Amino acid sequence: MEKTDIITVSNPKSPIAEAYRTLRTNIQFSSFDKSVQTVSITSSGPGEGKSTIASNLAVVTAESGKRTLLIDCDQRKPMIHKIFNQSNLVGLSNLLAGEVTIENAIKPTNMENLSIITAGTRPPNPSELLASGKMKHFVEDMKDKYDFIVFDTPPVLIVTDAQLLADYTDGYLLVVSSGAA
Ligand SMILES: Nc1ncnc2c1ncn2[C@@H]1O[C@H](COP(=O)(O)OP(=O)(O)OP(=O)(O)O)[C@@H](O)[C@H]1O
Ligand SMILES: [Mg+2]
Repeated sequence: MEKTDIITVSNPKSPIAEAYRTLRTNIQFSSFDKSVQTVSITSSGPGEGKSTIASNLAVVTAESGKRTLLIDCDQRKPMIHKIFNQSNLVGLSNLLAGEVTIENAIKPTNMENLSIITAGTRPPNPSELLASGKMKHFVEDMKDKYDFIVFDTPPVLIVTDAQLLADYTDGYLLVVSSGAA
């Protein structure tokens, strides 16, 4: 990867990168009955680090050899394309609107085992998009192709999108910024 702000890529031996690996392990062992294949990263308010954590978790999971897909489900403030220095001309919204194929929507990264889907053109009705049957089918399809899927979502206090993903999500990771009152 070229210049990047993703610490697990730029500084893989740092204590922070190691903390992300611990997080990865904890998620793997958070359920004994059923393996965790899909995780939504959420928080109550904005700017608490969801997109940062989603990206780093996806990187360390890919690093562990799992085929990993990171999906930007935040149509209101999409970030994944910025974090990975990719274009957002086509993405999830365009895929669900039938404008592009899955092959065109999924973007490889310079990291082995890691692909991303950016948010795409901002739709007028982002919540409907995530609640659609198309989204459900798409995620089912991806669960056959990937070992681990990370959803980056908007804050739950602002929109209900993270709840809409409940149907597809084995687990939620609730981000709370430290020091926040
Ligand atoms: N652990 C951290 N310590 C300090 N700054 C951080 C940390 N994690 C993220 N940041 C910074 O805080 C800002 C917001 O992070 P990020 O975009 O990941 O939050 P978010 O929860 O996804 O925000 P939004 O609600 O807008 O989607 C970014 O500038 C990011 O670099
Ligand atoms: Mg975000």
